Amino acid sequence: MVRKKMAVPVERVPVNVFKVFLASLTAFLILWFVPLLLGKYTDVTYPYIARKDIIYELVGLIGDAGKGIRWCPPISPYIEETVHLIDVEFDSLIEEELVKKYKIQPGGSWKPQECLSRYQVTIVVPYRNRSQQLRQFLTYMHPYLIRQQLDYRIVVVEQSNVTTFNRAKLFNIGFVESLKMATVDCFVFHDVDLLPQNDMNIYACTHHPRHMYSALDKFRYHLPYRNLFGGAIAVQRVHFSAVNGFANRYYGWGGEDDDFYSRIERKGLTIIRFDPQVALYVMLPHQSLPPSEDRFLHLNEGVSKSDDGLATLSYQLIEKKVLPLYTLILVSC
Ligand code: BGC
Repeated sequence: MVRKKMAVPVERVPVNVFKVFLASLTAFLILWFVPLLLGKYTDVTYPYIARKDIIYELVGLIGDAGKGIRWCPPISPYIEETVHLIDVEFDSLIEEELVKKYKIQPGGSWKPQECLSRYQVTIVVPYRNRSQQLRQFLTYMHPYLIRQQLDYRIVVVEQSNVTTFNRAKLFNIGFVESLKMATVDCFVFHDVDLLPQNDMNIYACTHHPRHMYSALDKFRYHLPYRNLFGGAIAVQRVHFSAVNGFANRYYGWGGEDDDFYSRIERKGLTIIRFDPQVALYVMLPHQSLPPSEDRFLHLNEGVSKSDDGLATLSYQLIEKKVLPLYTLILVSC
């Protein structure tokens, strides 16, 4: 008997919306969320030193102080435990009050009297046309650094109005001119519009070059990318010299810090950051400058142009002034 094949009607499988949703969700989790969790595509998991380890990383001891000298404790007793909430409109103390209250020495230097500071540092601030911010910076930073019992000096490097602003070159000049005044092993290169909110972010050098902030209010207390090395950095003198400082060719906004990062990397150094709870900052508001169009061009040339830096630095020193709250270096460059 021949069996007649019955035509099987094609069954329309009803689309199970729930299953489709579940499959899409799984795909989404695998493709996006898992790498995110692993920290592959995010800067949330960048390395940092735990708070308890901070003091062991610091260097900059002023050598053998000899018998009978009392070192300051590794963590200053004057450090305030709270995170400072900074009102960006805050009023500045007048200069004389600040000098008198904290006994700040001419040229914006200070060191504790009751003990020998463990950390010596020069803070270099590039500057032009932001007098209100400079006042706020000095008003805030002097007491902040004093609470940390540092042996420090603030050096402001001002660029005269002739050429486009060159942050990198001002840092190089600050480094060279500061070393003419005294030998210092640790430098903090710092924008005038940044204020640290936690006293535990010690302004001293670490064994590795350090990006001072892990969390910035402007970036919703995150970092836009892992290799960001802008705003405020702490670098040992030997490391800054070894990488030939910053490249001098970055006129205008942007790129010079990325170039500096690649110099650090090429020398086999790594950068570190402190815990975001410690390394958090506020940026004072100001009008943003348009990014320089040349910056990507320069960055691509970076490797071949690494001779551009401290070795090729040229500038005209207009004035060097010891002011009550800082040392001014006015240059044309
Ligand atoms: C610029 C850097 C800057 C960073 C964060 C980058 O695009 O090249 O110079 O620090 O953005 O604002």
